[in-house]
Amino acid sequence: MSTGMLREAMAGIAEEIDRAFDLLLPVPGDPRARLVEAMRYATIGGGKRLRPLLLSATAAMYGVDRDAAVRAGCAIEAIHVYSLIHDDLPCMDNDALRHGKPTLHLAFDEATAVLAGDALHDFAFEILADTATSADPFVRIELVRALGLASGWQGMAGGQMMDLVAETSEFDLPTVTRLQQLKTGALLGASIEMGAILGRVPVEGRTHLRGYARDIGLAFQIVDDLIDHEGDAAVAGKAVGKDAQAGKETFVSLLGAEPARQRAHMLVDQAVTHLASHGQEADLLRAVARYIVERDH
Ligand code: IPE
Ligand code: IPE
Ligand code: MG
Ligand code: MG
Ligand code: MG
Repeated sequence: MSTGMLREAMAGIAEEIDRAFDLLLPVPGDPRARLVEAMRYATIGGGKRLRPLLLSATAAMYGVDRDAAVRAGCAIEAIHVYSLIHDDLPCMDNDALRHGKPTLHLAFDEATAVLAGDALHDFAFEILADTATSADPFVRIELVRALGLASGWQGMAGGQMMDLVAETSEFDLPTVTRLQQLKTGALLGASIEMGAILGRVPVEGRTHLRGYARDIGLAFQIVDDLIDHEGDAAVAGKAVGKDAQAGKETFVSLLGAEPARQRAHMLVDQAVTHLASHGQEADLLRAVARYIVERDH
């Protein structure tokens, strides 16, 4: 697949997600307007939409209806965006810039940011439980379970806790690996899992997809740490140099930048080999894997 086709796929899903959030989040004509405006500020027009891209690319391999994939993509993006809103709060990373604009608590206020995060979290499960996402209640419940597992203490929130503890502890490489798998890998993995659930791929047919997801998840976070280490805030759309400042152990601090980059490349090669049983239908997933290590934001 050419880079032009990947760019097209990324632009396509970004537009579909923007449009879906716009329709799903009408501003009420009462004092809740401020909350919904904050949710819209955070969800519309920002981010690479990597999770919806992975979900829809996987779903497309199994012939899933596009609208269903976009709805499930909105659900996982809502969780991702909520995690970023809370991650940027003064009590966590205390960041001022996200997606190239002021963070939500600065554009609105801290209390609104907490509520917008909460409401996006709830919204994700509401979308998945809706019959418009799937007419099959078994599919809906499996989607809800996969996203719940990946978001909570056994996934993203658990990884965020480890990440905070990492500021004051000396974590070794296996512990940092576990941290990254939970903080970032879990939601990326859920994106692919949810595509497979919509595609009615039986659990025993998902092993290779889980292998792919595990490898790109780790590679993705290594690159996030490299961007923090040596990236450009204007290009990244968020502050850089924060991990070292916070005394946080990462792959970059433990291995050094070059070995960390090599590890990310190795993981992406490994991710692609997990897709060997697929033909052209997996080309988009292969291209996304390559993009993950080549990106600068
Ligand atoms: C950033 O994720 C936060 C991490 C989980 C490392 P993304 O790089 O996917 O965030 P977007 O694209 O800016 O939304
Ligand atoms: C946050 O990780 C991951 C989340 C689960 C939100 P980071 O703190 O490294 O993400 P950035 O660098 O602020 O995007
Ligand atoms: Mg953080
Ligand atoms: Mg952060
Ligand atoms: Mg980071």
